[in-house]
Amino acid sequence: MKKENLGLIPVRTTVWMDVVYVNLSGTAKEFDTAIRPLTERWSEFMGQPIFHGGPDSSFKLELNCNWKLAVENYCESYHLPWVHPALNRYSRLQDHYEILDTDGNFSGQGTTVYDPKLDDSGRTFSTFDGLSDHWNTGAEYISLFPNTLLGIHKDHYYAIRIEPLGPNRTREHVEIYYTDADMVTDDWADLRAINTEMWKTVFLEDVFAVEGMQKGRSAPGFDGGAFSPIMDRPTQMFHEWVGGQYRAA
Ligand SMILES: [Fe+2]
Repeated sequence: MKKENLGLIPVRTTVWMDVVYVNLSGTAKEFDTAIRPLTERWSEFMGQPIFHGGPDSSFKLELNCNWKLAVENYCESYHLPWVHPALNRYSRLQDHYEILDTDGNFSGQGTTVYDPKLDDSGRTFSTFDGLSDHWNTGAEYISLFPNTLLGIHKDHYYAIRIEPLGPNRTREHVEIYYTDADMVTDDWADLRAINTEMWKTVFLEDVFAVEGMQKGRSAPGFDGGAFSPIMDRPTQMFHEWVGGQYRAA
């Protein structure tokens, strides 16, 4: 069978950090150019292999909210004390900083106190090679517009694909990766499972928040909301991106 004979229409695609990016319109900037601010930001990780943890490192969540609220929620850290009290005990709101892409294609937040203690054995996953001190306790969480959420740490990386199922329904596909082939063997299955469970717990804590935001959007008193100049800029950047897409369309 020849693909030329199948009547298929070619579309632009690329794979970056194991996520497939598709440009149906064909009008997007070259991916390499568009992603450059992020590859520069994460330059120490670029070119290093990543290894998917397998079935124990993959899960899905379904939310009764619009996909944009799931992205919005991921942009900022100021919901930490109220939504993630356990996480906030060791990674406090004040240990975070904002991330704003100069081209307006991604935003997010970083922490300066990442220090995983997954169980009492003291075991830790191996880390990416040659990282500078910044990444010893640093981790970053980025919403890459429109619908990819990324997390990078010295010892693992994850990507979340946000799938809109309807105006009020969204599915999140979470995939977790490690830094070398050893980390994805059975020897490390228990620690991987703990890491997966830790993230699942964190993301499940966000569900009531995003579903509440969805309900709030349809409340008669909702006036469109207002942004604060403090801690709201990454979310505002996403709103500006979405607004720009609507204007362009
Ligand atoms: Fe959250």
